Amino acid sequence: MSPRAAPIVFGAALLLAGFSAQAQDASAERGAYIFHAAGCETCHTDTAAKGAPLAGGRPLKTPFGTFRTPNITPDPTHGIGTWSEADFVRALREGRAPNGDHYFPAFPYTSYTKLTDADIKDMRAYILTLPAVAKPNMPHELGFPFNIRLGVMAWKWLNFTPGPLPAVAGKDEVWTRGRYLVEAAGHCAECHTPRDRLGGLVTSKWMAGSADGAEGESAPNLTPDPATGLGEWSEEDIAFALKLGMKPDGDSLGSLMAEVVENGTSKLTDADLAAMAVYLKALPPIVHKP
Ligand code: HEC
Ligand code: HEC
Repeated sequence: MSPRAAPIVFGAALLLAGFSAQAQDASAERGAYIFHAAGCETCHTDTAAKGAPLAGGRPLKTPFGTFRTPNITPDPTHGIGTWSEADFVRALREGRAPNGDHYFPAFPYTSYTKLTDADIKDMRAYILTLPAVAKPNMPHELGFPFNIRLGVMAWKWLNFTPGPLPAVAGKDEVWTRGRYLVEAAGHCAECHTPRDRLGGLVTSKWMAGSADGAEGESAPNLTPDPATGLGEWSEEDIAFALKLGMKPDGDSLGSLMAEVVENGTSKLTDADLAAMAVYLKALPPIVHKP
């Protein structure tokens, strides 16, 4: 390189580095929004034990045993600091670890698989801006045969269709955005749809409530059936409940739903909450009282 060219090349490199740092910031900013919409913090933070954000260890009780969420901070040893972008995308899209292991569906990748590639990558960019916490993972406490990861492969074959949401003809942008936030990011069906004996979602009762949702709590019917669902709620009532955690009758939403609101829906824009309400009101009404 000629001595004259060197400063020019150096300057161009600096400029490029500046651009890419800016692109990185924008990606992390978008990622923060979708990260909150997806409620990652709720499960990956052991709030009851005053654990650091995303450092894992929160117990999740299920009929199959107790799961302990892993550390997903950028710590290189205990978290996901050394993961490539492709590793992160594969975890959310396919429910698979960097070494190929299948994740248990207590990690709701069954919903997150519906996220767009761009949203998953932005979410990773955001997580990488958060403090690393050197906290080792705790083992799950699962009974036989649920402790066998290979069994998850069979479960996924029966219950899991990887890939983003397909477009639906004849639906407008608001409904489509609402469906994305409810089905992909908000993973609302994971608690509000009943499960069969093997833990698969019963799609004929989509969003019609579950007697034994997460942690054994009953989650109500969100379809617009007037007697057993949200038929009497207006779209404004639904958006209000998701923003402030309060029902139209003035009651507060309880434990698990309170966390969904606090870490998730309360941080969304009014337009997004309205879109979620539009999607819920457009569901086929199902008579089902969990
Ligand atoms: C309902 C609780 C729950 C929510 C919500 C949740 N996770 Fe998890 N996650 C888990 C559990 C449980 C595991 C462990 C699965 C296993 O061991 O097979 C896990 C595993 C992971 C892993 C793999 C970590 C490793 O060390 O292999 C990543 C990455 C991850 N989650 C990221 C996320 C992100 C990003 C979000 C939000 C989009 C999220 N999780 C939301 C429960 C949850
Ligand atoms: C971790 C499990 C869980 C997830 C995920 C979840 N919910 Fe809930 N939800 C509940 C539980 C439990 C209740 C009952 C709370 C109560 O009675 O105080 C509830 C109550 C509600 C209610 C009040 C309904 C009524 O009839 O009182 C609405 C509305 C609601 N959820 C919407 C949503 C939406 C929208 C999402 C997705 C963004 C969602 N929920 C995700 C567990 C969950």
